[in-house]
Amino acid sequence: MSDSSLFVGKKGVGSENSITDTVAVIGLGLIGGSFAKALKENDGARRIVGFDRNPNELQAGLSLGVIDEAADSLVSAVKNADVVVLAVPVRAVEAVLDEIKTEFKPGAVLTDVGSVKGSFVKAVERVFSDVELSARPAVIPGHPIAGSEKSGVSAANSSLFVNHKVILTPLPQMGCEALKLVSALWVRCGATVLEMGVDHHDDVLAATSHLPHLIAFSLVDTLAGEGDSKEIFKYAAGGFRDFTRIASSDPVMWSDIFLSNSASTLKVLDHFADDLAILREAIATQDSKTLLGVFTRAKAARDHFSKILSGQAYTTIMNSKNVIFKLKPGGDVNGVIRVAGDKSMSHRSIMLGSLADGVTEVEGFLEGEDSLATLQAFRDMGVVIEGPDEGRVKIYGVGVNGLKQPPGPLYLGNSGTAMRLFAGLLAGQAFDTELTGDESLSKRPMERVAAPLREMGAVIETAEHGRPPMKIKGNCRLKGMHYDMPMASAQVKSCLLLAGLYADGETSVTEPAPTRDHTERMLNGFGYPVNRAGDTASLIGGGSLTATKIDVPADISSAAFFLVAASITPGANLTLKHVGMNPTRVGVINILRAMGGDIEVSNESVVGGEPVADLTVRYSQLKGINIPEDQVPLAIDEFPVLFIAAVCAEGKTVLTGAEELRVKESDRIQVMADGLKAVGVDTQVTPDGIEINGSEIAGGVVDSHGDHRIAMAFAVASLRSKGEITINDCANVATSFPNFEALAKQVGMQISVEHE
Ligand code: S3P
Repeated sequence: MSDSSLFVGKKGVGSENSITDTVAVIGLGLIGGSFAKALKENDGARRIVGFDRNPNELQAGLSLGVIDEAADSLVSAVKNADVVVLAVPVRAVEAVLDEIKTEFKPGAVLTDVGSVKGSFVKAVERVFSDVELSARPAVIPGHPIAGSEKSGVSAANSSLFVNHKVILTPLPQMGCEALKLVSALWVRCGATVLEMGVDHHDDVLAATSHLPHLIAFSLVDTLAGEGDSKEIFKYAAGGFRDFTRIASSDPVMWSDIFLSNSASTLKVLDHFADDLAILREAIATQDSKTLLGVFTRAKAARDHFSKILSGQAYTTIMNSKNVIFKLKPGGDVNGVIRVAGDKSMSHRSIMLGSLADGVTEVEGFLEGEDSLATLQAFRDMGVVIEGPDEGRVKIYGVGVNGLKQPPGPLYLGNSGTAMRLFAGLLAGQAFDTELTGDESLSKRPMERVAAPLREMGAVIETAEHGRPPMKIKGNCRLKGMHYDMPMASAQVKSCLLLAGLYADGETSVTEPAPTRDHTERMLNGFGYPVNRAGDTASLIGGGSLTATKIDVPADISSAAFFLVAASITPGANLTLKHVGMNPTRVGVINILRAMGGDIEVSNESVVGGEPVADLTVRYSQLKGINIPEDQVPLAIDEFPVLFIAAVCAEGKTVLTGAEELRVKESDRIQVMADGLKAVGVDTQVTPDGIEINGSEIAGGVVDSHGDHRIAMAFAVASLRSKGEITINDCANVATSFPNFEALAKQVGMQISVEHE
């Protein structure tokens, strides 16, 4: 074929920057036209040849500048093309391919833009089966996830694919050069390219695109057929319009799609029909719990849509962006504040509320990413949970044996507490589960719980070196046992006590030093007796929990940042309201007082079995101390900020017996030492602690290693630094203290937060 067989319009605008020489687009509908136009405008090819069976559309394509040249036949379009893009209705693919199957030039690439990939691949296989291998094009099936309810070349839009995904489903035998070429063309048009298997693509699209279109068409048709349809449409406002927008899509194209992707669509349609029948039954029988269950789960999923898409815990506001804290030196610490709810108790309130009989109401729940991940995990196991709404959560308990198998792995974000406590609780279930987490959690040791659980009869697999993910087998009979904990860990103790609920006989745990006892207290609050004899906690399996009310106090671990902030800032006077004062958590107060801190306790009371009080803190010149080792488990989460107190103290502070700090969200000894060095403070690191001499803080740039408490500790350091402090990797502050920035500003700290 010679160039003379082409109607030549505006000459190709491509340059040596073009990715390829000639692209032929067959079918100038919305998608084909938009791809052609985007390639032309972005120099994707030296020339774009178009073909459409409708001569008016073809001419319009030429005159609108969508293509460089209009081919006079299908064959002439294909002959000299390096890349042929099939943008015809999915059911027309085979007929088109039949016409052009022997016309491809050597080395040409064939791709398409259809919504169904299985039918395209089958058509290719059928058509090319009698064509010699060397004469076949390389085939890279493609599907841009973009569109609009408009159609035709006049709707072509060169930015249609910008920031949209394009899925390529390359067949195993296709060369990677062809794949690279097709990817590069899409990337040039502003798209993000993903790869997927053909069947997986068709299943995913059946669920996310095809089924919603079917429902929209069907709903509008149903309502239009109702006797008083005019009346209905007259009052159908925003919701109806939003929901049914896609019912204006091209009917021919969509009926083709359903017929081409029938197996995958039928599968998801049946599932939907079953679920719809459940809703119908719930309405008919006035079953509000089922309705609430479906709606609360759906709302949580929809509210965190983007997280679902990126595979993160979708309960969370966690994002992969680098959040940077910038702090000007100096500032004040004054006023009255209440910090967010206690993280340890928030986790446990959801766990025990879910296992209880009856409805548990929680107030003061921490709406941080860690505890929200726990909440979502229980929703995934069939528990109906309303909220959280300003710290209020209502849990419709399912009883100790009422959890259901979750649909997939339970993603626990950054939370070591969640993973270890879940491990115990899930070891006794009748179904298998898998526990996963973020990058930091995936590095943390889980053998400390897996090993004793195995001794109780659990079957648990971990990844290398006892790290997550944890795979927990269901239907294992657990037997109670006594365990002498080698380390002082409330998480290990709690894990075994929770497994003990499901075990035959007594489970008892002896701790080498007192650790937080919220599990024991809360179990007692739910009417499940836990016995305490010296340093041993025990319970007998097989009992039940009764729903209760829980008031979660403010988290002393979050209050700690402000206790230190006020202690080191001349002129400071700050009151922290309703702080949890459980004796197993008050190490930070004991240590600061031993250093000369001025902390006044008032309004002491006991709420739901946990002591609470208001704390008033004033500035005082701190002095260095040897931190008593018995205080270490009682202040285990507060050391990052206590190190800042030590820097601001006169003389030397020595910490020993704190090797556990090395396996927290980061190695908190090393990461703090590195951060302190970055702001001009030298320290002496030891295997189980650190030595810190009081010194000036110069300021500088610190890496928090994604550890929330490291980030907040260095924010506090700015109150005494000479220069600005910049802290990188602070997104995880949202795991435990989502409103840290707001409260820090409120008391007078000079913090600003940037999202990169
Ligand atoms: C926690 C126990 C502690 C603590 C963590 C919360 C809990 O961990 O560091 O932030 O809620 O049980 P260890 O048990 O590993 O010391």
